[in-house]
Amino acid sequence: MRTVRVVTGGTSGMGLATAKALGADGPVLIGGRNEARMARALDELKAAGVEAYGSQLDVSDAASVAAFAAKAADIAPIGTVVHAAAVDMDNADTDTIVRINVLGTVNVVNAFFPRMIEGSTLVNFASVTGYYYRPTADELAVWDDPGNAELAERFTAGLTPFDAPGLPDSAAAYFASKAFVMRYTKANAQRFASRGCRIFSVSPGSFMTPMLETQEENYDSIKKTTVFERFGDPDEMAYLVASLVDSRAGYLTGADVLMDGGMFAKRCVPQLS
Ligand SMILES: NC(=O)c1ccc[n+]([C@@H]2O[C@H](COP(=O)([O-])OP(=O)(O)OC[C@H]3O[C@@H](n4cnc5c(N)ncnc54)[C@H](OP(=O)(O)O)[C@@H]3O)[C@@H](O)[C@H]2O)c1
Repeated sequence: MRTVRVVTGGTSGMGLATAKALGADGPVLIGGRNEARMARALDELKAAGVEAYGSQLDVSDAASVAAFAAKAADIAPIGTVVHAAAVDMDNADTDTIVRINVLGTVNVVNAFFPRMIEGSTLVNFASVTGYYYRPTADELAVWDDPGNAELAERFTAGLTPFDAPGLPDSAAAYFASKAFVMRYTKANAQRFASRGCRIFSVSPGSFMTPMLETQEENYDSIKKTTVFERFGDPDEMAYLVASLVDSRAGYLTGADVLMDGGMFAKRCVPQLS
């Protein structure tokens, strides 16, 4: 059956690389806010031979996400949804991070869930940073009630600020938002299984995308946090996602897959020589 692959944040970085990989065997719909970035991404996808469609999308706005999901369903039944859209702590404040990364994920999952066909998969982008955030019991009570109309306000109020030199004030919100994405993904596993669908998350370490542009003076030190002493290539993440949405990986659901060049292992476990 002809199905459409949907990629939020498909106009840049790992979302764009994933759209290209998924577009090898079917139509792709990408979403993002910036029109110029969207036009460039569509040109790039079409030049690579992808049947590509684009639609304006702000994931923090439930109505925008609902319209985006309807546009996807107009193209074809929905086979795969990759939710890569997010903002980073270096270019957004706490409120913006919570609205886009936390509410945005809830909006995307809820808008697409009723439209997913049996055998389809939704993939959320989390982050290695989510592995470092330890929510309190009070925070978990908020996170486990994602349907609450005041989720964003309650999420922000519960945050424990980091006392770490070199990190911006919004770091706690970014780390927590990605820990939330992982937990919310797990919380949806049974719900998705009830429709014969899967949901999992992927956690990048440091990948060379526009999101890292503001970090240029730290490139060398970031690379040294990995065992390979290099950044990830967006195509490596695209390959991972494209492989794992394949039905041959059909037992994978409710889990996070960490692809960080050994960053977490190196930091958390003494490395053998
Ligand atoms: N790069 C890394 O090292 C790294 C590490 C860990 C996790 N991640 C995660 O991996 C994912 C992809 O990151 P990337 O580095 O590829 O990012 P990127 O190149 O900065 O691209 C981010 C994408 O998200 C879109 N976006 C942002 N806010 C949006 C909104 N409100 N509504 C719709 N689209 C929105 C952007 O388009 P517009 O701005 O035009 O809307 C863009 O297409 C993100 O979830 C990120 O948090 C990245």
